[in-house]
Amino acid sequence: MSTFMGVDHVGIGVGDVDVAIEFYGRHVGFDRVLFDHAGELPGLEAVAGRLPRARVAMLESSGATPIGPGRVKLVQVLDGDGPPPAPEGQAWGEVGVCEICLHVRNVQEVHDALVAAGCASLMEPMSANVPPAGVTLDIAYVADLWGTKLELIEWTGLWRSLPGPARAEGVNHVAFGVTDMARTRAFYERLGFTELLFESVELFDPMAPWYRPPWYDPGNVPAQHMTMPMPAQGASIEPVVLNPPGHDCRGEWGHLGPMDFGIRVANIDAAAVQLRGQGVAVHGEPQSLDVGSGEWRYVYFAEPDGNYVALVEARY
Ligand SMILES: [Fe+2]
Repeated sequence: MSTFMGVDHVGIGVGDVDVAIEFYGRHVGFDRVLFDHAGELPGLEAVAGRLPRARVAMLESSGATPIGPGRVKLVQVLDGDGPPPAPEGQAWGEVGVCEICLHVRNVQEVHDALVAAGCASLMEPMSANVPPAGVTLDIAYVADLWGTKLELIEWTGLWRSLPGPARAEGVNHVAFGVTDMARTRAFYERLGFTELLFESVELFDPMAPWYRPPWYDPGNVPAQHMTMPMPAQGASIEPVVLNPPGHDCRGEWGHLGPMDFGIRVANIDAAAVQLRGQGVAVHGEPQSLDVGSGEWRYVYFAEPDGNYVALVEARY
C-alpha cells in the first residue's frame, strides 16, 4: 500500500457548525458525525498566522463508495472576529480551493433535491465526456446555502453507482487553483495522484457565467487548464490553471466556503518523514488531538501555490 491514500476530506468554513451538520447530514448525505471537537488547533500557525480556536466536525457519508469516498470537515473559527469572509471575486480556478465534487447516483434527481432544499442551481444537469479518453459523465453544479460550489458527478464511463435510490455519495474530488500545472502535477504525483483521468485546456462553457465583473470581463473569460490525477484509492484532486490568471482566492485559513483539504495516510509519522525527505516543508510535527471518539492526527505542509493542505491519519 502506498504511503498516501488520496484525498480524505475537504475542509469547509461555516458560520454555524450545528446548522451545517443539519444541512450536510439531511440533504447532502454526510449523515455520520465522526467527531465534533472545539478547541485550539495546534500546528496551524504556519497556515492560519496564529494558533486558531475552532469547532471542527468531521462528517462521513454512509453511502460512500470507492469513487465517492471522501469526507467533509466543517470548520467554524471561534476566535478573533469569527469565521473570515469567503474570498471575494472567486469564479472558479483561482488559486485556492474552489469546489467540492460529490459522486452521486442520478445527477438529475440529486440536483433537483438539493435545489428543493434551498441550494441554487449553478449548472443544469447534462451529459458530457472528457478528453483524451472520452470518459463519460453526468454533471451538474449547485451552491450550498452559503455559496460553496458543489459539483455533482456520476462517472458513467468509469463506474456505475451501487443499486439503490438516487443519492449523494462522498467526495469524489476537490478542485483548486494553481499557477503552474507541470509543477503541481509533479508535486502531487509524489503524493500518489498518479493516474491522469482527464486533461482539458478549453473553457468549460457552462461555467462562463460564473466569471463576473468587476473581477472578469464576461466577453473575455479565461481559458481553463484542468487535470484530474487519480490516486489508486481515495478521492482525487482537480488542479486548475486559469489563463490569464485570476487573483489569489486562498483567503484566510478557516474562511467561509471550501478552504482546505486533507490527504489520508495510514502512518502520519512515517508520511511526514517521507515528505521531508522529498524536500517538502512540513509545518512542525504531526498533532494528535483527543476528539472523544478517538484521535485526530494531522500535519499541514507547504504545497507549491500555498494552498492549505494537510496529511491526516484518521483514528476516529
Ligand atoms: Fe470538478
